[in-house]
Amino acid sequence: MHHHHYPLFLSLSLLPVFLLTTTSQRTAEYIKAIDPLPVPYPVLVDFTAPSLSLSDLTAPKLDEVNRTVFEWWYFDAISSSNPNVSLVLTFFTATATAFPLVPANSSSVLLSYVWASLPDGSVVVDHAVPGDATVLGDRDLSSGVWEGTGGWQGSACSKPRSFDLSLLLGPYLGWVDIVPASKATVDMIVDGEAMRFTGFGYHDKNWGSRPFQTLMTSWSWGHAHIGPFSLVWFQYTPATGLGHANSTAPVVSAYVERNGTVLVSGCEAGIVSVKEKRTQAGGYGVEVGMERVKVQVQGTAQVAGDGAHYVRWNGRVVGRCWGRRSRGGCGV
Ligand SMILES: *[C@@H]1O[C@H](CO)[C@@H](O)[C@H](O)[C@H]1NC(C)=O
Ligand SMILES: *[C@@H]1O[C@H](CO)[C@@H](O)[C@H](O)[C@H]1NC(C)=O
Ligand SMILES: *[C@@H]1O[C@H](CO)[C@@H](O)[C@H](O)[C@H]1NC(C)=O
Ligand SMILES: *[C@@H]1O[C@H](CO)[C@@H](O)[C@H](O)[C@H]1NC(C)=O
Ligand SMILES: *[C@@H]1O[C@H](CO)[C@@H](O)[C@H](O)[C@H]1NC(C)=O
Repeated sequence: MHHHHYPLFLSLSLLPVFLLTTTSQRTAEYIKAIDPLPVPYPVLVDFTAPSLSLSDLTAPKLDEVNRTVFEWWYFDAISSSNPNVSLVLTFFTATATAFPLVPANSSSVLLSYVWASLPDGSVVVDHAVPGDATVLGDRDLSSGVWEGTGGWQGSACSKPRSFDLSLLLGPYLGWVDIVPASKATVDMIVDGEAMRFTGFGYHDKNWGSRPFQTLMTSWSWGHAHIGPFSLVWFQYTPATGLGHANSTAPVVSAYVERNGTVLVSGCEAGIVSVKEKRTQAGGYGVEVGMERVKVQVQGTAQVAGDGAHYVRWNGRVVGRCWGRRSRGGCGV
């Protein structure tokens, strides 16, 4: 295991992109240490948040971690001047049984992953197993430390909009999009070379009470930034059988903001259509349509993936949002 890129520490501050419409908040304060060894029994998995404070949204939703549940905290930043350039950090609690990216022989449920993609489209990827991990929360402060490998520290200077506090996206699957769009500044050293850029940041968190790969037959997610607009889309097809979903109707979620004002945020059927396009030459594109939105992401660099089951691309974005045509956007 190479530890030379670590520790990476990420600090985030949520831009005031949300409207304050809720006041019934319960104060959350906790320090939660996560045991590196999986437990051999059923664990509690929470698909709710007691309040909308940042600390409650980012809190671990697994009471303990056994072999068949998973959770991860995902952060990315993409350059606004070259879509090839990005940094992705993900902090996992999962075993290889519950999430395929976890090395099969890992002795721990804890794992930190980093992907740094460079101007020429090449990618530096590394992962490391921390000795222990702790997540702390206090009202609108949140921090997580995957000991010796990295972590995050953040505060919210605004409150999210009211929602029903259920974070269940589909059967056995939780998702909370904590920072759909923000400004990002990255200044780090990758393999001895300086990597500095400004662009867009994104942070969400996923978890589930059954192995990830048993819950869906396809999964497509992304975010794009074009002109004053930022978009997030999510579309997955639930797997049926094994007591899972009863319907293969796609589960969707969409978000659009313009200069920080939320225009669309919902998950009703048909709110978004996502069409992926793969070219014979190994290229990748995606077309995202919503009411008053039609954008194309043209992949410029593959940042992650095994080529067969999973890919993550960065790309350029062109299209029309709210009657305004723009080019020169970027997306993940
Ligand atoms: C892990 O916990 C989940 C959720 O409670 C449960 O469904 C599953 O059976 C447990 N797995 C093991 C190996 O105990
Ligand atoms: C897991 O396997 C990989 C590849 O075979 C090896 O490099 C690594 O050292 C192993 N890790 C552990 C914890 O055994
Ligand atoms: C992005 O990377 C690709 C290779 O993946 C390269 O062909 C292209 O020129 C790069 N784009 C820029 C703007 O440097
Ligand atoms: C599927 O339907 C069965 C029988 O109606 C029900 O018990 C089960 O909870 C449903 N599963 C889900 C994931 O909604
Ligand atoms: C968005 O913000 C930019 C910079 O603050 C401003 O120039 C532009 O007019 C705004 N656009 C809209 C549609 O509000």
